[in-house]
Amino acid sequence: MIKSVVITGVSSGFGRGMVDEFLQRGWQVIATMRNVDSKRELFAAPLAQYGEEKLTLLNLDLTDSEQVKSVIDTVLNYGSLHCLIHNAAFRIFGALENLSEAQIRHQFEVNFFGAVSLTQAFLPLLRQSQGSIIFISSTFGFCPYPLTSAHCASKHALEGFAESLYYELQPHGVDVAIIEPGASQTNSMQNRAWGAGDSPTYQLQTANYQKLQQRITGNAANNTPIVARLAADIAAGKRHPFRSRVGTDAQITYLFQKFLPQRLRIPLANFIYKSLFCQEVK
Ligand SMILES: NC(=O)c1ccc[n+]([C@@H]2O[C@H](COP(=O)([O-])OP(=O)(O)OC[C@H]3O[C@@H](n4cnc5c(N)ncnc54)[C@H](OP(=O)(O)O)[C@@H]3O)[C@@H](O)[C@H]2O)c1
Repeated sequence: MIKSVVITGVSSGFGRGMVDEFLQRGWQVIATMRNVDSKRELFAAPLAQYGEEKLTLLNLDLTDSEQVKSVIDTVLNYGSLHCLIHNAAFRIFGALENLSEAQIRHQFEVNFFGAVSLTQAFLPLLRQSQGSIIFISSTFGFCPYPLTSAHCASKHALEGFAESLYYELQPHGVDVAIIEPGASQTNSMQNRAWGAGDSPTYQLQTANYQKLQQRITGNAANNTPIVARLAADIAAGKRHPFRSRVGTDAQITYLFQKFLPQRLRIPLANFIYKSLFCQEVK
């Protein structure tokens, strides 16, 4: 029997890489993205190679409840599903005082509630197939940075949701896993917005953070093939830890976060962030 996977946010980055990886491994891929009609061309090669039976493109903006319902109905109609990958995300950065309530809600609609709706709807199929659910999180999912409170909160919520589900679904044969990539060269710089407010209080911190982000992302490797292989291995049932980190920065951040006692970690992190963000840098 051919196994099927739903992947969200496939128009670029990790999502696009996972589409190719799963197709190469013989899966049927149900690939969702916003504005599918304008992006069909991006999939001309895999569509020509594998055909529409193996690659289905569906329109899905996770903030659009009609589209969410339509994707759910389509997949439920197929009658089987073996893996669900929550990859789509949006990043809203900036000091809390510069964020509007609408921006914060939007952050959670895309990064958290979208994943919740799809997971809930597809669980009966995933229990039936003894399948898996993979959450693409981030270092923001376990390490809070300043000027990213809404994004951090959405990824932390996703990780809490995932770990709770891991224990809940283990007895029913559904595997749950989190992948936590560090900085990687994708479209994520474009898929990022800054708070609409312009409080002068945070100008220096914001400017320094933006410079640092540009430097980090500019120097980062493209980890798409690693993330794609890891996700396909997990979906294939290969042994894996509940959380898998990708990239040296993710590993170092994890060690810092998990193994330094709080009485050292918090003052040290505070010192680093103050030095990085609160004084004039070139
Ligand atoms: N790249 C990194 O440095 C990095 C690091 C850690 C974690 N991650 C995580 O990796 C995952 C993939 O990100 P990426 O790096 O591959 O970035 P990306 O290329 O920007 O991909 C993000 C995807 O999410 C989609 N998306 C955005 N808003 C959406 C919405 N409202 N509804 C549905 N889809 C939406 C985007 O679609 P559009 O093309 O339509 O905007 C895009 O396909 C994300 O969960 C991200 O948090 C990335």
